[in-house]
Amino acid sequence: MTITIVGHGYVGLVTACVFADFGNKVWVVGHTKEKLARLKKGDPIIFEPGLKELLQKNIKARRIFFTDDYENSVSESEIVFIAVGTPTKETGEADLNAVIDVARKIGKNLKSKLTVVSCKSTVPVGTNKKIETVIKRHKPKSSEFAVASVPEFLREGTGIFDTLNPDRVIIGSDSKKAIELLIKLHQPINGKRIITNLASAEMIKYASNSMLATKISFANLISFYCEKTGANVVEVLDAVGLDNRIGRSFLYPGVGYGGSCLPKDVRAFLNTGKKLSINSKFLEAAEEINKTAMDSFVDVVANNSPGKKIGILGLSFKPNTDDVREAPSLYIISELLKQGFEIKTYDPVAMENVKKFFENKISFKKNPYEAVAKTDAVLVITEWNEFKQIDLAKIKKIMNQPFVFDGRNIYEPELMKKLGFKYFSIGRP
Ligand code: UGA
Repeated sequence: MTITIVGHGYVGLVTACVFADFGNKVWVVGHTKEKLARLKKGDPIIFEPGLKELLQKNIKARRIFFTDDYENSVSESEIVFIAVGTPTKETGEADLNAVIDVARKIGKNLKSKLTVVSCKSTVPVGTNKKIETVIKRHKPKSSEFAVASVPEFLREGTGIFDTLNPDRVIIGSDSKKAIELLIKLHQPINGKRIITNLASAEMIKYASNSMLATKISFANLISFYCEKTGANVVEVLDAVGLDNRIGRSFLYPGVGYGGSCLPKDVRAFLNTGKKLSINSKFLEAAEEINKTAMDSFVDVVANNSPGKKIGILGLSFKPNTDDVREAPSLYIISELLKQGFEIKTYDPVAMENVKKFFENKISFKKNPYEAVAKTDAVLVITEWNEFKQIDLAKIKKIMNQPFVFDGRNIYEPELMKKLGFKYFSIGRP
């Protein structure tokens, strides 16, 4: 098949490379000339494990093409995906400007054959109907199209694996032909197929991300209880998670959830609830607990650090990505700076993206040891593998004082005690 994907972020580019790798011809449409030039040369711009190799392989095979031109790409495609961002507006609402603008451009460039316009961007319920109206208004009279909602469930850091092995592929559409074509395109991909209508597909995405955020906030809430009672949150949640009805995944407490999806989607879902006069206190609480998780980590550090010189390990919102959008590290660093802390940091790939937020207010080091040398305390904010087997004895030797604040529970309290650290973790005695 020939397909077009508008957008080349973590969702657009991963999806494009995977579909190209199956043998399809894939156009990727963007609007920033410099970015397109880098992509054409095989530089994915973002860091996602395996993506560079997959991109270069498919450029070489002449299956993936980058352009800012909707005419060539859309007019020869059977399926066009919209995969552009839907950031949060000040009101908490999802900003649909990019999605609607893209829909207009797709509409103008439709040819006479049936084109399926599928939205992968996370959009509030009802948006695909708006996309349909916009396309209808702008398309040439003779052209035919159908809209579909195909929400994305890939996680950053495991994007390629998740695209190939999703738990489910959701196809929401009122058009039989669109459903048939999308089933054909997804044929090599694993996972259960759920065929549904537009509104349900849109709702599935928000319900899923809201549930994930809620699970994390629940885990953080339990960790607060544990901290005040001497219970161990890991043992508690290991046991709770053994109940098949509950499950263990996404019950890891820490410094809170971040990223470009969970925080934004919970806010947008709350906004939809408000418009529909639905009492969504349940979700408001998830959001509030997330902020409390970050604040209480800051308080523990501020109240217990023996000095103001600290080293921070991990800046990205989770491991295996360079993405720092709504990363807890940004909030924690800015709060600690206000309290006069002197901060050195290290992250395997995200430092470049953090520099613009703090300029020279914090320093960036070449490796974890440089970041912790001569500090009074080390803070672990992202659980990169690189930190899990770090030489702890060496760390202790090069620090001024042996204080560790582990925001992701990556070290064992017993071992840390044996090594002579003063060790603080989340919800564990
Ligand atoms: C999330 C969803 O997991 C994907 O299914 C979805 O496709 C994606 O959003 C999206 O909407 O595009 P992602 O933002 O990449 O994926 O990251 P997650 O793995 O969900 O992690 C989000 C945050 O929660 C991270 O900051 C992570 O550290 C935190 N987290 C996760 C916890 O604090 N505890 C946990 O148990 C799990």
